[in-house]
Amino acid sequence: MKNIELLFDAIRSPTDIANMIQLSLALDATLYMTGNCVNYKIPKIWGKVGSWGITEEPKIIHDQSFENLVNKLKQQGKTLIGTSPNAKKNFYDLDLQNIDPVFVFGTETSGLCAAKQKLLDEMVVLPMAPKMNFMTLSVCVPPIAYECHRIMRKTGGSAGTRTPDQSVMSAPL
Ligand SMILES: C[S@@+](CC[C@H](N)C(=O)[O-])C[C@H]1O[C@@H](n2cnc3c(N)ncnc32)[C@H](O)[C@@H]1O
Repeated sequence: MKNIELLFDAIRSPTDIANMIQLSLALDATLYMTGNCVNYKIPKIWGKVGSWGITEEPKIIHDQSFENLVNKLKQQGKTLIGTSPNAKKNFYDLDLQNIDPVFVFGTETSGLCAAKQKLLDEMVVLPMAPKMNFMTLSVCVPPIAYECHRIMRKTGGSAGTRTPDQSVMSAPL
């Protein structure tokens, strides 16, 4: 596993985008965005991000076509892992040590459609108690990203981190 990479299809909520920018900078993660997503540079998002003391640009790559980007990433040897509250496979059953994953998230309203799911290597669910039908992006993306980060600490990925008693340093930690 080399780096944390997250793909969002047609992400529309400014709050979710601001939170994903914060997460991506915390983990040195790459964000891919496809389709009709909101431009992260609009004042509503950048003002929020700026109020958190963030001045650095996140690594965001946009491709209008979900299909093109998925194919490009597959050609680079990456494993595309879709996420859905209705998937059968549990996220915790993934073997993250031996793949170069890109986690793929659907829209806030309809998630990833069946045609898009078919293009991906597999689909996983982050387990929830039965009383919950789904989680919002701001809730379900961080635990997935941080579990990847935990694995990367063991396998020598490239995310840097800052702990209370350390300055910024490169993995492995
Ligand atoms: C608000 S949810 C979309 C809900 C939509 N009704 C559906 O069934 O997918 C937005 C995205 O968050 C992710 N998501 C939400 N809950 C999840 C869970 N328990 N496990 C994995 N991914 C989840 C998925 O990527 C989903 O497309």
